[in-house]
Amino acid sequence: MATVETRALRKEFTGHTAVDGVDLTINEGEFLVLLGPSGCGKTTLLRMIAGLESQTSGDILIGGRVVNDLPPRARKIAMVFQSYALYPHLSVAKNIAFPLKAQGAPRESIAGEVDRAAKMFGIERLLHRKPRQLSGGERQRVALARAMVRHPDVFLLDEPLSNLDAKLRNLARDELKQFQRRLGTTTLYVTHDQVEAMGLGDRIAVMSGGTVRQLGRPQEVYDEPADTFVAGFLGSPPMNLVPVDGVLVGFRPEQLLAPGAPASEGVGPAVPMRFAVERVENLGAGRLLYGTLPDHAPDQKIIVSLAYTVHSSIEAGRTYDFRMHESNLKFFDPGTGRRVPARPLPARRSA
Ligand SMILES: Nc1ncnc2c1ncn2[C@@H]1O[C@H](COP(=O)(O)OP(=O)(O)OP(=O)(O)O)[C@@H](O)[C@H]1O
Ligand SMILES: [Mg+2]
Repeated sequence: MATVETRALRKEFTGHTAVDGVDLTINEGEFLVLLGPSGCGKTTLLRMIAGLESQTSGDILIGGRVVNDLPPRARKIAMVFQSYALYPHLSVAKNIAFPLKAQGAPRESIAGEVDRAAKMFGIERLLHRKPRQLSGGERQRVALARAMVRHPDVFLLDEPLSNLDAKLRNLARDELKQFQRRLGTTTLYVTHDQVEAMGLGDRIAVMSGGTVRQLGRPQEVYDEPADTFVAGFLGSPPMNLVPVDGVLVGFRPEQLLAPGAPASEGVGPAVPMRFAVERVENLGAGRLLYGTLPDHAPDQKIIVSLAYTVHSSIEAGRTYDFRMHESNLKFFDPGTGRRVPARPLPARRSA
């Protein structure tokens, strides 16, 4: 276990800045998720921490020690790649043993470590098989087992679940979280999947264009996005952003309350807000309503999400009296995209 810290970390490729000054501290034993769209610099950041890519400037500290000039082996880090990179010609047992063998560990201790890792990841039955004889989920467990036999101080995981189908991903996610809890290994986990990030992270660092836009606990980042990028990246559908009298007003699709829907407690009174429904989409577990707020922004499409338990008979082509807790409204500067302090919602336009 160790802390990992980056200070003003930068990486420039020819004519292109991939990581643009990242200051990040991962606490001891923490599961930190690096979340951001394709090309924002996640893998580059991970590879610099692992020592597989040199930084252009800035510092990397592991356990409080600057490791800028240490080779990957000396950093006590284990990295799991998206592709798992298992050796196809070696059995599962030999794959797991590989890093220990490369270190020159004694034979008996290797066998013990392989057994222990296989047990922890529930793959004892698979030890004699080759990688091609495994499912995607099993391969993932082998890759994790191989990463942990060296007792790394830090796990770096680059989209390790992205090869799995949706159902298996949920299971693997839960499993991974439990392994990490049990081992207590400081973990930096890269994904572009916000659901994965919300479910796995003790904290999430949201990245865009080589910089960290926001760092916080999942619910904090979801509820209090620092800017319109974060607001739009988390949540499915994302936060509605409606231009109202010179500001962007944001609210989550589930925060507009349908007639008959229960109001939340402790967030102040719910004020009326009319919603013109144009289309209703049934998702089974709930419904999505597409439409506009005729009193505030008649030209801006918004999406409202209704829980399965809201038994109202809402139809397309009609306008309803919805409600909204004003404390759920977030305000953003339309120029910079940054959050600005809350203000009262401007008076309605004439109906
Ligand atoms: N070796 C390289 N040479 C030049 N440019 C690179 C190199 N590696 C990455 N880049 C560029 O740096 C940027 C960041 O790449 P990186 O692989 O870190 O993104 P990412 O966030 O991991 O994306 P993805 O989610 O698609 O994996 C991209 O614009 C990419 O094209
Ligand atoms: Mg990547």
